[in-house]
Amino acid sequence: MTEMNSNEIDIVKAQTSKINDVDFSNLTFGRVFSDHMFFCDYEDGKWQTPKITPYQAMTIDPSARVFHYGQAVFEGMKAYKDEDGKIFLFRPEQNAARINVSSARLAIPEFPKDYFLKGLEELLKLDSEWIKPGLGNSLYIRPFVIATEPAISASPADTYRFMIICSPAKAYYNEPVRVLFAEKYSRSADGGVGFAKAAGNYAAQFYPTSLAQKKGFQQIIWTDASTHQYLEEAGTMNIFFRINDTLITAPNNDRILDGITRKSVIQLADDMGINYEVRRVSVQEIKDAVNDGSLKEIFGTGTAAVISPVSAFEHGGDVFEIPSLENSYATLFKEKLMHIQHNLAEDLHGWRHEVK
Ligand code: COI
Repeated sequence: MTEMNSNEIDIVKAQTSKINDVDFSNLTFGRVFSDHMFFCDYEDGKWQTPKITPYQAMTIDPSARVFHYGQAVFEGMKAYKDEDGKIFLFRPEQNAARINVSSARLAIPEFPKDYFLKGLEELLKLDSEWIKPGLGNSLYIRPFVIATEPAISASPADTYRFMIICSPAKAYYNEPVRVLFAEKYSRSADGGVGFAKAAGNYAAQFYPTSLAQKKGFQQIIWTDASTHQYLEEAGTMNIFFRINDTLITAPNNDRILDGITRKSVIQLADDMGINYEVRRVSVQEIKDAVNDGSLKEIFGTGTAAVISPVSAFEHGGDVFEIPSLENSYATLFKEKLMHIQHNLAEDLHGWRHEVK
């Protein structure tokens, strides 16, 4: 099967919807899930017929390799609705491609792009009521792949499950975040899996992040593992610095996630004639810039976080506050992106994908 249409998906619809139990004005990120889920099993060397069923718990053997070796990858995307009820995805082909880049690194078979996109569209059509119109509203989409083979020898599995679940979402961070620049722990290393959306990359951050949180910082900005002198990414976000009017972000490498919001912001900066540099950024450069007043902003970019300003950072025991700015680049890019996503602004680059 290379091209898939909706009648090649086995669909079992939910008898009743849970939607009336949900308070859409008071959502905690990732706690409530829509009525349906999409899944497809890899068995006998190929992906089987995809299915959509009511969202439900599933049975997996306790020996499944995902539980023992973390052979799992995921994606993050969002669906938006405009005031006419049209549903849009933002650059979904990028997610369909990136999950396969992640899968290849984790020795997971690639998932066909048309299964991904067609499956997601069918799921969104069934759960369209869960996508609320209005800027700031979205349905967060979590595609993921897990190794299901019941066997605990340390080698790649023979069977996998690809799934998509959806959760209505507002902002991930409600306030500007305070961050700590990593000095001891590392998120990833050369030759590792930092560029992949591997589940284990996130688990590995939980402990150092909980230490940072005890000190009053919500996130860590990870530095290069060998010297801890260069700022790389924030774990749930890529990171941008504004020195005077120039935007700076680290180049992609095998330690940094190839963020779709990151590359969209770089493109928007280019469109708007904002000067930008994709180059290594040192901790010292940012400390010097905050001290001489040329550091205007730091902000993170990501699907869940959209654009999240950073209000302070800690390094070497010193805390540096970043005064909030009127007309910040963070606000400018956030508005521009959200307007494109919600069909309120011209889509110069064909990023919007209507779900019909
Ligand atoms: C996303 O932005 O979609 C992410 O993957 C971050 C997530 C860990 C909340």
